[in-house]
Amino acid sequence: MWPRSLLAIADLPPADIELLLDRAQAQKADPSGPHGRACAGRSLALLFEKPSLRTRVSFELAMQRLGGTALYLSPAEVGLGKREPVKDVARVLGGYCDAIACRTFSQEVLVELADWSGVPVINALSDWEHPCQALADLLTVREQLGGTQGHTLAYVGDGNNVARSLALGAASVGMHVRLASPPAFTLDEASTTVAASRGEASGGSIRLLEDPREAVAGADVVYTDVWTSMGQEDEAAARRRAFLGYQVSRELLALARPGAIVMHDLPAHRGEEITDAAIESEQSVVFAQAENRLHAQQAVLWRLVGQD
Ligand code: CP
Ligand code: NVA
Repeated sequence: MWPRSLLAIADLPPADIELLLDRAQAQKADPSGPHGRACAGRSLALLFEKPSLRTRVSFELAMQRLGGTALYLSPAEVGLGKREPVKDVARVLGGYCDAIACRTFSQEVLVELADWSGVPVINALSDWEHPCQALADLLTVREQLGGTQGHTLAYVGDGNNVARSLALGAASVGMHVRLASPPAFTLDEASTTVAASRGEASGGSIRLLEDPREAVAGADVVYTDVWTSMGQEDEAAARRRAFLGYQVSRELLALARPGAIVMHDLPAHRGEEITDAAIESEQSVVFAQAENRLHAQQAVLWRLVGQD
């Protein structure tokens, strides 16, 4: 059964991931098609505890394109769990809005919002998952490689929120995922087990590695994300040391399949996880990927907030 909210890729059955990608592609090809006004008269609260460019703008515009309204609430305005308990914010917003997209530090806040609001809740990034990013990423892979099945995705860097959603999503749609991280920063065991079982069902797989060169060798997609995520700024210096050798550079890319694509969810820290030359190279699809946030978001809103 389709979950009422989108809190994690781990909750989304593989068939539903494919359905959302199909919808995103169809909507992108024909914006005024039959579902073009699916959210007419509906409203979405954007409750953000951390900064955002892509997620905020793409949700606002996606809602507008589908005929609905989005209201942005900044960290200072709401004081989620500080000025007011999460369960009270949930019930207040649930009384005004048809759905809530929330960017927060803990996955538990999302679960609490979903438990109390009475409306669908969408994870707009937590420390645990970034499911909307993964959907846009898979849409980009589909477009760039003509599909996802059987392709190899090498993720180099921190086994973080972006890595987790991406690994779970990619393994669900038949990709071979290789994650290269320093041992202390690798993906957690439970997520790896879920990704592996999804891979068994889809014809994909997941491998955790330490050596970025081994991960990238012959890969179709090379993906990285920041070494220091939002909220971890105090650890930045230690993380820069821990991730030395995990930079995506032209030299590392030379090991991938010729014509492999380079992906990054952005914002990028050039000179840390990726070089300027790699992100600006002809292989880089990062801005197509960023644009796809808008198309993927429309599919999510159509499914969770739409009327048809
Ligand atoms: N990739 C991503 O989520 O970007 P923002 O933090 O700008 O929303
Ligand atoms: N891992 C990053 C992703 C930003 C979009 C963070 O959580 O800050």
